[in-house]
Amino acid sequence: MRILVTGGAGLIGSHLVDKLMEKEKSEVIVADNYFTGSKDNLKKWIGHPRFELIRHDIIRPLFVEVDQIYHLACPASPIFYKYNSVKTIKTNVMGTLNMLGLAKRLRARILFTSTSEVYGDSLEHPQKETYWGNVNPIGVRSCYDEGKRMAETLMFDYHRQYGIEIRIARIFNTYGPRMNIDDGRVVSNFIAQAIRNEPLTVQLPGTQTRSFCYVLDLVDGLTQLMEGTDTGPINLGNPGEFTMNELAKAVQELINPEVQISEVENTPDDPRQRKPDITKAKERLGVPRT
Ligand SMILES: NC(=O)c1ccc[n+]([C@@H]2O[C@H](COP(=O)([O-])OP(=O)(O)OC[C@H]3O[C@@H](n4cnc5c(N)ncnc54)[C@H](O)[C@@H]3O)[C@@H](O)[C@H]2O)c1
Repeated sequence: MRILVTGGAGLIGSHLVDKLMEKEKSEVIVADNYFTGSKDNLKKWIGHPRFELIRHDIIRPLFVEVDQIYHLACPASPIFYKYNSVKTIKTNVMGTLNMLGLAKRLRARILFTSTSEVYGDSLEHPQKETYWGNVNPIGVRSCYDEGKRMAETLMFDYHRQYGIEIRIARIFNTYGPRMNIDDGRVVSNFIAQAIRNEPLTVQLPGTQTRSFCYVLDLVDGLTQLMEGTDTGPINLGNPGEFTMNELAKAVQELINPEVQISEVENTPDDPRQRKPDITKAKERLGVPRT
């Protein structure tokens, strides 16, 4: 089995590569442009005979021979996906078209990592896969949210029109080792601030909620989805829900009880509530790891 992982130098991708490389016979190829990822995340595999790392931007076609494609390449943190919003759209739309073209040529199965952001500022809570979302199409986050929605559309059109085997995971906030300390995601942000003895900056109103999944659990969900029979979309995440005020207090208690908590203005279109309904994942992907 030869497997391509786009975005394999990032947080989720590098842990996925670790898991795929543990299977004795699988060969893994990573394609990444290192925009938010790092070779350091993969250093234990560099030079391994079953591993190959290619510096490649997926907005250009890629010609490799593989059996499966895990298509993750895309910045996940708002400060990076907003930094060059047109590039984010190209990554999601042209990048996904390129990967689907590859899957079509090779008759390879392709898994796409979509996001809970496709639900937007959700009017349904918790979010089920059947919910179509409440997304601002012209806002500053739209390059990511709408880019992912278009990529899902492309996945299903290639599936219906060409019979491509697709899998779609809708990932909710994920955290874990190898998160970039300055990438602006709330978990790493609070921890970095607590370590530096800087105030933990809670964006107003502080009552907005998120659910956080540990990266290894998420990776198990991705491989189970790939190996299963369901196309998805399937929500992958942890249904435990926290307000940002609660998260800041937890980090304060665990890391630095002296640190202050301060309130700052929020960014536009920040969703107020986020919690996955994971009934479908439980039914169709088997038991979570312990
Ligand atoms: N981490 C989360 O909480 C979360 C939540 C929802 C969805 N996701 C999705 O999961 C995937 C992985 O997220 P992550 O947290 O590991 O993010 P990450 O930023 O750590 O990793 C993304 C990787 O993609 C690479 N990349 C970006 N644009 C590229 C391009 N044009 N060509 C080639 N490589 C490119 C980056 O260099 C990086 O290695 C993304 O598709 C993201 O949208 C993540």
